[in-house]
Amino acid sequence: MQLRCVACDARHDPDPLLYQCPKDGSPFEVIYGDEVFSKAPDLKGEGVWRYQPFLPVKKSVSLGEGGTGLHRCDRLGKILGVPELYIKNEGENPTGSFKDRGMTVGIAMAQSVGSKAVACASTGNTSASMAAYAARAGLSALVLLPAGKVALGKLSQAVAHGAKIAQIEGDFDDAMRLVVELSTKERSVYLLNSINAFRLEGQKTLAFEVCEALGDAPDAVVLPVGNAGNVSAIWKGFNEWKRLGKIKRLPRMVGAQAENSAPIVKHLRDRSQPCVVERPDTIATAIRIGRPVSWRKAVAALTDSGGDAGMVSDEEILDAQRLLARTEGLFVEPASATPIALLRKFALKDVKRVVCVTTGHGLKDPDALSKAAVTLEKVKPTLDSLKRLLDA
Ligand code: F0G
Repeated sequence: MQLRCVACDARHDPDPLLYQCPKDGSPFEVIYGDEVFSKAPDLKGEGVWRYQPFLPVKKSVSLGEGGTGLHRCDRLGKILGVPELYIKNEGENPTGSFKDRGMTVGIAMAQSVGSKAVACASTGNTSASMAAYAARAGLSALVLLPAGKVALGKLSQAVAHGAKIAQIEGDFDDAMRLVVELSTKERSVYLLNSINAFRLEGQKTLAFEVCEALGDAPDAVVLPVGNAGNVSAIWKGFNEWKRLGKIKRLPRMVGAQAENSAPIVKHLRDRSQPCVVERPDTIATAIRIGRPVSWRKAVAALTDSGGDAGMVSDEEILDAQRLLARTEGLFVEPASATPIALLRKFALKDVKRVVCVTTGHGLKDPDALSKAAVTLEKVKPTLDSLKRLLDA
């Protein structure tokens, strides 16, 4: 096992405390030797740790992460013009988002180097997940949140699990810069953002699960992109499953972003521009990010896979959130509805089987619905008023 810099390709021996390339500050990816892929793996049980042979550390604490539902959605597929549509519903994870897949691995790394404290900057879900896993492992947790921009459900989780909360007067990108500086200077604080390549190893297991369930890779995978770790991790997972000989082809990776927070979409349209949006803003606060740390990995994943990225408005996101909830019974948070909104806006050509990844549960952000102009009227406690409601 080695760490490879995604910008300059330099190799380093695995060091849990080395988060970025010393030469250019870029993130690493974990690479394994041929011996990991040359024999039939010993896969046991369910969830993230089923894939232990492809993970960088042994299991320590778990809350039952991974093994989420892959739901075939024919009714929604018909509306979106996708012949075989599946939703991989990551809201079914223990803390309600895909972050748990990475956190179980990241916390094991923190414990392997004897860290007593973990830290992250977050738009909400990472902090909720890290706080829960830190509590389970008996570690202290520090979370840096953009003040006033974190959904209520996520903030409640961080509070409930006893994390130390720094509400930063700034946006996620300011918090991210600060926490990287902190963990680089204070080596006793283990950094659990997706710049941590070991954490992303847990997230790649989503691809393994999809391949095992479908018997091959789908034609396309559509998912929200914020700090850009997840799209990179999932693409790595598909590549490793192919290297193992378990699938014959790779899917197109398609990223969905919100209109005023779409640095990746803009960079793909004009590569001469930096992958940056100043003052990002969207109702999908989970992906309200202007300087994605893993942009280089994400651009490679979207390009190498023959995929693309597109953006949708807040209104389209909220419409898609309701459409999914009403047609298929799946309630997801606004960021997680961006793939549905994107498929509704732009048809994907030459695809039959598509997997949309819904990254977080709808209850994470109860306020989003009130912004969707939903009115609840009071009725008199009579049968007549109920009949009127039924007939409406
Ligand atoms: N969907 C949800 C629900 C998220 O919480 C995030 C990221 C993403 C999608 C995007 O994933 O960053 O890997 O591209 N949330 C982070 C957080 C930034 O702090 O919880 P990504």
